[in-house]
Amino acid sequence: MYRIGQEEIDAVARVIETGALFKINSKGQDAMYAEEEMKEKFGTKHALLMTSGHAALTSALVGMGIGPGDEVIVPAYTYISSAMAVVAAGAMPVIVEVDDTLTLSPKAFEAAITQNTKAVIPVHIKGFPCRMDKICEIAKKNGIKVLEDACQADGGSFGGKRLGTIGDAGALSFNYFKIITAGEGGALLTDDKALFERALIYHDSGAVAYFGDQLSGVETELFCGNEYRTNGISAAILREQIKKMDEILRDLRNNKKYIMDALCGVCEFVPSNDIDGDCGTTVAIRFDSAEKAAEFSVAEGISGIVPINTGKHVYKNWTAIMNKRGALHPLMDPFKMEANRDIVPDYREDMCPYTLDLLSRVVYISVDPDWTKEMMNEKIAAVKKALGVD
Ligand SMILES: Cc1ncc(COP(=O)(O)O)c(C=O)c1O
Repeated sequence: MYRIGQEEIDAVARVIETGALFKINSKGQDAMYAEEEMKEKFGTKHALLMTSGHAALTSALVGMGIGPGDEVIVPAYTYISSAMAVVAAGAMPVIVEVDDTLTLSPKAFEAAITQNTKAVIPVHIKGFPCRMDKICEIAKKNGIKVLEDACQADGGSFGGKRLGTIGDAGALSFNYFKIITAGEGGALLTDDKALFERALIYHDSGAVAYFGDQLSGVETELFCGNEYRTNGISAAILREQIKKMDEILRDLRNNKKYIMDALCGVCEFVPSNDIDGDCGTTVAIRFDSAEKAAEFSVAEGISGIVPINTGKHVYKNWTAIMNKRGALHPLMDPFKMEANRDIVPDYREDMCPYTLDLLSRVVYISVDPDWTKEMMNEKIAAVKKALGVD
């Protein structure tokens, strides 16, 4: 969470005063307006607000028609949610290496493609843009759908286009830790009408046919799905956050640039696929050994994070996935389904050695959009001191 205050308080008060707490109602339409404003900001034909980024990822996969018998490629470095969404859709997550940018390696993606591959999930982890031109080119050549996981990258871009709007669909998250937040929340972005209709039905199966005219113009036949509907309060907060998003990103990027410029030649940075589109949340410094990274991360004034220690962001810690426990009920478990019998992956802790090595040699310094020059100068001095340069 970066900037939240009086505007959000007023928005919540307005919703409570009018009683328009449900997603759809006659007294206030914050969810509808939030979706309109998202479409405008992101430039997509459709935007669907939901309860979480995970809900958006799952709904997008369902909307793509992904299910049992399908493989979906995910990077070894992402929050477990990206892989769990694949399992929620009934498909098999195929885990591949990231490259030196810490994002999905286009080479590893291409090498992992089989006749069963139906989708790929490039993840813009830490707001670092994936190499979307190459990924989309490979996907197109092989008839594979692209679902961008932009949950950690609300508003970022690659090649001047917003993350989440480049592939066939994109998922954003608005949980507490994200660039913009409503405490919890997510959104699906797409230009694909059929995908949108299916996701619309899937994400709100109980109410979509009952309230308002959500199904007007929808050609997809109703089917049972889940219940990931947003509400008036979350939507009202989000509308204020959308207004603030570009300023937050501007200040994050400026602060990251200030720090990187001051440390130019002093340390080695993780390369970026598009530094202008990078969200600016994190300065990532690369070391030549895990020992040096670990030592630097705890040096005075650094408060660094070594990504190998970030739990469920590293594939080897995705316990339920690694143990192939796809559901409580065995007949609902995609890892045990007949359609997946020949494509259940052979997960091993050491299967992505490059990713594990790189994650242990990188240190993150989290950037704040509201840092003053003095605060940044202190951080820069601390980095120089820890590295033994003055
Ligand atoms: C990369 C990534 N994907 C998906 C998610 C899921 O988002 P949510 O927590 O909103 O379900 C997260 C959230 O932490 C994430 O970081």
